[in-house]
Amino acid sequence: IAVDPFDLVVFGATGDLAYRKLIPALFHRHRDGQIPDVSRIIGCSRRPMTDEAYRKATEDALKKFVPADEREPELVASFLERIFYVAVDATAEKSGWPDLVKVLKEGKDRVRAFYLAVSPDLFGVICEGIGAHGLITPQTRVIIEKPIGKSLESAMALSDTVGKVFKESQIYRIDHYLGKETVQNLMALRFANALFEPLWNAAHIDHVQITVAESVGVESRAGYYDTAGALRDMVQNHILQLLCLVAMEPPSQFEADAMRDEKLKVLRSLKPIVDGMAEQVTVRGQYRAGASAGGPVPGYLEELGRNDSHTETFVSIKAEIENWRWAGVPFYIRTGKRLPSRISEIVVSFKSIPHSIFGASAGSLASNQLVMRLQPDEGVRLWLMIKDPGPGGMRLRHVPLDMSFAQTFKTRSPEAYERLIMDVIRGNATLFMRRDEVEAAWRWIDPILDAWSTSREAPKSYTAGTWGPSAAIALIERDGRTWHEEMI
Ligand code: BG6
Repeated sequence: IAVDPFDLVVFGATGDLAYRKLIPALFHRHRDGQIPDVSRIIGCSRRPMTDEAYRKATEDALKKFVPADEREPELVASFLERIFYVAVDATAEKSGWPDLVKVLKEGKDRVRAFYLAVSPDLFGVICEGIGAHGLITPQTRVIIEKPIGKSLESAMALSDTVGKVFKESQIYRIDHYLGKETVQNLMALRFANALFEPLWNAAHIDHVQITVAESVGVESRAGYYDTAGALRDMVQNHILQLLCLVAMEPPSQFEADAMRDEKLKVLRSLKPIVDGMAEQVTVRGQYRAGASAGGPVPGYLEELGRNDSHTETFVSIKAEIENWRWAGVPFYIRTGKRLPSRISEIVVSFKSIPHSIFGASAGSLASNQLVMRLQPDEGVRLWLMIKDPGPGGMRLRHVPLDMSFAQTFKTRSPEAYERLIMDVIRGNATLFMRRDEVEAAWRWIDPILDAWSTSREAPKSYTAGTWGPSAAIALIERDGRTWHEEMI
């Protein structure tokens, strides 16, 4: 369904995020006929460049990041007609703002969105410039990306800075995990089916696992990454958002504030990791040289070019939610770089049956598991005990009811940014984070960071291409449980 006509202004238009994610996402929406004719994409960055030169750069980005069979020449040509460029150096005296004012005048009645695909240090000066040049219309929104702070304090300062110019309802904080198809399906699964919700609590669920594994290392991002680490980079945002969607109470509507109120309650119910608990319930690791994708790969410190960093590239945590629904149900989370493969999954493990009628000859009975695979091969699997076929008596086996999205729907699965950018244009903030959520997440993360920074222990090292330090396996096995087998 087409959205309202819009002007999307991308600050940081020549950066990696713009070329790799935003332009391909917008092209796909154009290709599907979702972008109304007059809409424009206006790139802004410091570098002087003509519209023509930026169109050429856009075309190159499409060649690099969109598969050839999805790049029909006439659609590429019509997409490029939407692309414009204005050089704006928000930090300089002769800044280029008047040129942007001129270009935007033409679209004054359209939805206007500013995407700040730049370092957060620049959010303040860009927002000020937008405000000071009278560019905020009633239909204006601003989109910001992580890192939203490095701690509670800095996150609050950042929100204050943006909040000086934009109202909270105009601020769209992207967590691209919320735009992933399977993540949205988690809500469909929970709230559009009668089957799961009655069982979705401590009486029936033994524990939950959330794994976001990456096979890549930090490579060229080592500079940024070393100031962040896996806890800030992945857990504070993506993984806590996933945890919220699994754990939240049903909102009364699929609507921005109803959803965000429920997620906030989960974040506020997380058991604080304080008073020496970090050693027992968290594991941090850093990869050393090993093998990945069939070849040797360097260790984190080699990539960084220093040997004194304690930044974690892996983290595993046993989290708990202190409320009636989840008391006593651990949420084991883990994420890391240079793990054996790129797999993200949420595994909900149900309790065992209270009594087996089948006797020892049936084999051991495994408990039911609902596995939501976020990537790759998006899909849902429900593991059940089933009788082994044949006349050999009642032998039971753990097998999945298996739904692969690709096979079931036979359509390409849109990238998270496609959905999220269109939601901004529609003014739908359901899949974006509100300020209080971001802050509640930091409130839980900060004490872990504090405990780590005062600890004398370095992160445990793990060989690239393995599932992290052995302590992460011990973390779950100590409780008599194991990481979901398909993972290993
Ligand atoms: C980003 C992190 O937010 O998410 C990266 O900064 C990480 O370090 C990426 O690689 C993972 O996203 P995806 O969509 O590839 O799972």
